Amino acid sequence: MTELPKTMAAMVLTGHGGLDMLEYREDWPVPVPEGDEVLIAVGACGMNNTDINTRTGWYSKTVREGTHAEGGAKGFDEITEESGGWGAGLNFPRIQGADVCGRVVDAGPEADKSLMGKRVLIDTWLRDWSDPMNMDKCGYYGSESDGGYAQFTSVSARQVHAIESGLSDAELATFATSYVTAENMLHRANVGDGDTVLVPGASGGVGSALIQLSKRRGASVVALSGESKADQVRDVGADWVLPRAPDDLRAAIEAATGRAEVDVVADVVGGDLWPQMIEVLCRGGRYTCAGAIAGPIVEFDLRTFYLNDHTYTGATIVPPGMFADLVGYIERGEIKPLLAKTWPLAELREAQDAFLQKSHVGNFVVLPPEV
Ligand SMILES: NC(=O)c1ccc[n+]([C@@H]2O[C@H](COP(=O)([O-])OP(=O)(O)OC[C@H]3O[C@@H](n4cnc5c(N)ncnc54)[C@H](OP(=O)(O)O)[C@@H]3O)[C@@H](O)[C@H]2O)c1
Repeated sequence: MTELPKTMAAMVLTGHGGLDMLEYREDWPVPVPEGDEVLIAVGACGMNNTDINTRTGWYSKTVREGTHAEGGAKGFDEITEESGGWGAGLNFPRIQGADVCGRVVDAGPEADKSLMGKRVLIDTWLRDWSDPMNMDKCGYYGSESDGGYAQFTSVSARQVHAIESGLSDAELATFATSYVTAENMLHRANVGDGDTVLVPGASGGVGSALIQLSKRRGASVVALSGESKADQVRDVGADWVLPRAPDDLRAAIEAATGRAEVDVVADVVGGDLWPQMIEVLCRGGRYTCAGAIAGPIVEFDLRTFYLNDHTYTGATIVPPGMFADLVGYIERGEIKPLLAKTWPLAELREAQDAFLQKSHVGNFVVLPPEV
């Protein structure tokens, strides 16, 4: 690229609500990197439920349903402007999109210039780098800052990781959010060799990452999946694949594995099956959670928890260093991308509609026009 353009194509979120709040613009200003920021020409940007939850305001406590296709497309009536973000509220207009693969094309005055020209992935966690362990000072790239649904994006060089890989930009854009979330869940639940991990939602972005990363740690995986996706989920590496909502989960696990319990439940689904997931946890078992796509409000019998010495961990903000670990796993081929489909950036609304149908395995990625 000889000279940087002044304007770019971008999908701009104009407020909380349905897909109609997304506006495709071809005249959006190219960000100017300031301080320690670098400017990245976006090659590809992966999609996540976070985009939908943030747009619809699903994180608001006033919403008690799961992220179903209708709510995801039209938005939820119950939300208020202030309560829609996962942490602090969102500012509009906002460019979403967290899972960027691209190339560094410019650098701010205090940025690491050695990144210039490199192919990079972006660590999705915004931090105060003078106090990086402070979770209260963390934000999400593409939520609390503009993200990658655009031709260019600027971000602190501290979050930018050069990557050496034969994978395409679109394949590399499948990893960031799903895999670092899954790795953090397994870290929080201390998953290791010999554990059996139950993974509901195993066909999804985080679920398929949980399969691969659990296997990488030497654990076995019992996956729950829609029937049409079961063979693909098995191919990802699950040892056993069961229906997404068996009548009797304990009996189904025992029939498949020969043992009626699991050591860990790594959950991004929640919803009606939740009490059964907890009942199959062994004494001393660990439950870790990073999502509730089927419903955030569940029935919790505290006796199951304390009489069985369970440990429950939430997993959202990822410790510094984990993203660099993930880049290493990718470079060494220890995990593989599951690219279900790519879409042009201009068709992000159609892509989100298809994403909400949940008939795919793995991740969707959007491609901005080439610069
Ligand atoms: N805390 C964090 O940092 C973080 C990061 C990433 C994601 N998340 C959250 O984790 C959840 C899953 O994310 P993801 O990216 O893996 O999602 P995804 O790719 O959409 O996959 C979710 C899977 O859950 C299964 N599922 C089971 N019951 C469902 C229901 N009632 N409605 C919809 N799907 C259902 C579906 O598979 P089957 O049809 O095969 O059952 C679906 O493929 C979301 O709530 C997301 O917001 C949180």
